[in-house]
Amino acid sequence: MRLTVAPTPTLRFRRLRKSAALRALAQEHTLSVNDLIWPVFVRDGTNLREPIASMPGVERLSVDQVVKAAEEAAGLGIPAICLFPYTDPAKKTAGCEEAWNPDNLANRAIRAIKAAVPEIAVMTDVALDPYNAHGHDGLVQDGIILNDETVEALVKMSLAQAEAGADILGPSDMMDGRIGAMRAALEGAGYKDVAIMSYAAKYASAYYGPFRDAVGASGALKGDKKTYQMNPANSDEALRLIERDLTEGADMVMVKPGMPYLDIIHRVKTTFGAPTYAYQVSGEYAMIRAAALNGWIDGDRVMLESLMAFRRAGCDGVLTYFAPQAARAIRAGQV
Ligand code: PBG
Repeated sequence: MRLTVAPTPTLRFRRLRKSAALRALAQEHTLSVNDLIWPVFVRDGTNLREPIASMPGVERLSVDQVVKAAEEAAGLGIPAICLFPYTDPAKKTAGCEEAWNPDNLANRAIRAIKAAVPEIAVMTDVALDPYNAHGHDGLVQDGIILNDETVEALVKMSLAQAEAGADILGPSDMMDGRIGAMRAALEGAGYKDVAIMSYAAKYASAYYGPFRDAVGASGALKGDKKTYQMNPANSDEALRLIERDLTEGADMVMVKPGMPYLDIIHRVKTTFGAPTYAYQVSGEYAMIRAAALNGWIDGDRVMLESLMAFRRAGCDGVLTYFAPQAARAIRAGQV
C-alpha cells in the first residue's frame, strides 16, 4: 500500500457519492427479490397461525396457511419457500420412520403448495431431527450418531419428498456421503431434475436456538451436535466439504449460519464459483428483531444492510425469515 499523500485531494471518492444518481451508477452489488428463499414452519391442524416466542413475527402455520404464505411469496416475486415441520412429539421415534412417510406433514405441505402455487420452488429439509426421539439429525445408538445407517434413512426421506413434488432438497444433517447417495437414488428413481442444495458448511452453532424451539426439538435434544456439525474455529475444512459435496452431485451449496461466517461465504464463492447460498439463521433473525422491537436499531435498514452483506460476500441468494418483509422493502424502493 502506498502511503504518500498527494498535496491536494485529487482522488476525491466523494465525487461518486454526491447524489443518489451517482451513487446508483457506482453501486457494485444489488439485492433483489430473486435472491430470497423464505423458510417457514409447518404444523398440524387447519386455519392455525401460532406465534414462536423466540422469533417475534414468525409463526407456525397449518398447511392451508402455508399455502396462503406461498401465494403471498409468489405475489411478491420470492422464488422459493423452504418447509420445516413441527412434528407431534407422539410421532417421534428412535427409528425416525415418520421422516419417509409419504403423508407426513412436510410432504402434505409440498403437495398442497405445488397444487395451488406451482410456480414457486419448494425446498425441503433433509435431516431426521424433527422425527427423532433423540432430537439429533441422525440415528442414535448407544449415544453415537450413526453415519451410514442415517444416510440410508435420508435417501428414503429424499425420495418421499421428490415424489411429493419438491424442487430442491436441502440436506442439513452433515452426515458423510449423503449427497452422493441421494443423487444416485434420485437418478435411479427418475427424479433427474430435482436439485440438491447441500448444507455443506454447517457449523455447530448456538445461533440455532430459536429454530429448535420453533420445530419443537429443543426438549428432545440430548447433548450437542458437535460430532457432525463443523467446529466454528475452522475454515479450510469448509472448502473441502464444499468441494466434496459438489463432486458428489450437489447443485447448490450453503454456508450456515450467515453473518458470522461471511469470510467462509467469500472463500467458497471465489474458490468454486458455484451457486452459493447463506442461511441467515433463527438467532440472527431474533437478534435483529429484538433490537428493532426495543427501538434500539432501525429494523428495516439493518435487515436490508445484513442481506446486502451476503450479496457483497458472494452469495447468489439467502434463506431468511425476513424474506416477505425484505421483498416488500425492496419493491418499495428502499434498496
Ligand atoms: C436441523 C436444522 C437446523 C436448522 C435448519 N435445519 C438446526 C440444527 O441443526 O440444530 C437451523 C435453522 C435456524 O436456526 O434458523 N436439521
